[in-house]
Amino acid sequence: MCGIVAYLGDKKAKPILVEGLKRLEYRGYDSAGLAVIDHGRLQLVRSAGRISDLESCLAEQELEGSLGIAHTRWATHGAATTENAHPHLDHTGKIAIVHNGIIENFATLKKWLISKGCTFRSETDSEVIANLISLFYYDESQSDQAGPDRGLEIRLETAVRLALRELDGTYGIAVVSSEVPDVLIAARRGSPMVVGLGDGEFIVASDAAAIVKHTTQAIYLGDNEMVVVTRDGYRTITIENDPVAAKIEQIEYSLDRLELDGYAHYMAKEIFEQPQTLADCLKGRLDQTSGQVVLGGIASLSRELVRAHRIGIAACGTAWHAGLVGEYLFEQLAQLPAEVDYASEFRYRNPIIEQDTVFIVISQSGETLDTLAALQEAKERGALVLGIVNSVGSTIARQTDAGIYLHVGPEIGVASTKAFTGQLAVLTMLALYIARRRRMSQQMLEHYIRALRRIPEQISTVLEQSEYIHQVAQEYHQRENWLFLGRGYQFPVALEGALKLKEISYIHAEGLPAAEMKHGPIALITPEMPVVFVAPKSSQYDKVMGNVEEVKARGGIIIAVATEGDETIRDYADHVFTVPDTLEELQPMLTVIPLQLLAYHAALIRGHDVDKPRNLAKSVTVE
Ligand code: G6P
Repeated sequence: MCGIVAYLGDKKAKPILVEGLKRLEYRGYDSAGLAVIDHGRLQLVRSAGRISDLESCLAEQELEGSLGIAHTRWATHGAATTENAHPHLDHTGKIAIVHNGIIENFATLKKWLISKGCTFRSETDSEVIANLISLFYYDESQSDQAGPDRGLEIRLETAVRLALRELDGTYGIAVVSSEVPDVLIAARRGSPMVVGLGDGEFIVASDAAAIVKHTTQAIYLGDNEMVVVTRDGYRTITIENDPVAAKIEQIEYSLDRLELDGYAHYMAKEIFEQPQTLADCLKGRLDQTSGQVVLGGIASLSRELVRAHRIGIAACGTAWHAGLVGEYLFEQLAQLPAEVDYASEFRYRNPIIEQDTVFIVISQSGETLDTLAALQEAKERGALVLGIVNSVGSTIARQTDAGIYLHVGPEIGVASTKAFTGQLAVLTMLALYIARRRRMSQQMLEHYIRALRRIPEQISTVLEQSEYIHQVAQEYHQRENWLFLGRGYQFPVALEGALKLKEISYIHAEGLPAAEMKHGPIALITPEMPVVFVAPKSSQYDKVMGNVEEVKARGGIIIAVATEGDETIRDYADHVFTVPDTLEELQPMLTVIPLQLLAYHAALIRGHDVDKPRNLAKSVTVE
């Protein structure tokens, strides 16, 4: 989704801004632009399309300035055109802003600003921010609030503060003005903003990925906070003008992990590195000597966890599928009632949070707005909130009471893969951690720990089938409708398999509990339709085989994910992808792998850009 980079320092801003935008490309976008203060003038360059398109426009521009702001836009209000791309200027052309988030009262504000004589050039909600700032900046009575002789810097800062106070909704913004050529202002409410403190330079961005090349020292702005950066330093304040004591932190982000390492796509790299990322996720958390699950991030809350009466879970997309597996795990292993919610629905249904409810939010990015809102709602209603997050230092990680990081490294491919298996591993460990403290025997815990330790190498054997999965994808990539079916722990995997195919192959796919097929979807089955059964050996196996027979009887194409050595299913299935045997609760970490590969190969064969699928964003920071 939208990304912001801003620079003030002693180097030319243009190359730093463009490089920063490239680091944010993975978030998903459809246009890009930048504004640089060059010899006292605001120079604006924007383009619909890719950053390479912006670079072509920039090739003719010799921009010398060392202060600028840049943006990748993912369209919400208004189409993905150059006019709607950020930065946006105020009607005088002297103030430029970039904005992430959504301004909910923009229509009212726009009408009011037009009545005051402002003109608008785009269909975006963001442009009202530029004009609001402008209105306050040029309004003599408002500027009096800055006090006499306090200079243009304070005047701009005051205008930004006053403007932000008028906004409903969410924002991360960066502002520059050609009238105040050595000042950069950034602010946030509900949309991340990190201030990188370099040597004689500042890089402000919505994502640490755009900063780490320059510095690892940073300040994470809190909600309703602003930073005013000048050539002499910076100040952090609230939008009410109260001082904020800035906390300088070390960004934990390794640029090495952003390389493709010889893979054609991040998605391929992230699928194939799962044996390692899962090992990293489990590392230090399964103590062989003492036979314990060790989860440092939640250790101080173990009493509350044991006392819990109920687990609530909220997440979106792939993380929601992991949460659904979590629901089964908590009930099965820890005997705790658990319920997963779509984060986007949670706060709109007056959720009941009973006493001793532990609420878990799951998010790869730690920035998904709906998940963040569910977290806040659960907290307000008195729950203890835990986070299962990949991105260290993200907003969700900061707002939870405690949490467990995935430690699978940055995930760049828009379609989530290694984060999913990491989420499953963490949920399993958490369920075991609670289970052992409630009722599970030590012997049983050690049985699970032994099986969990084998998962990374078992994933490697599944990955060896990539070439065969490619052949199957080749055979069926033109089929436009697919079904994915599974029972028990394999139902969420079926949902995830269908989502992967939709996301990057643009093939219509539905995931269902296998038994539900009879209640409608069976009408769709023809010899044209591939039906993927996620059917490893499990307590549900015989029942799933019944469903396999039903599809076979109607001539459907059967693709099965089955346990190694299962010869029965080969009599029915047209194609079989195998997974090594493991405990039923751990199977999703293996059975999802062939489905990730299937989607990847199908998308490539269909000629899609798998790392940047159309219309999708890696991190959805709007409602
Ligand atoms: C977007 C991504 C999905 C992801 C979902 C939740 O829709 O495209 O891949 O599963 O957001 O993201 P999160 O970062 O909260 O896990």
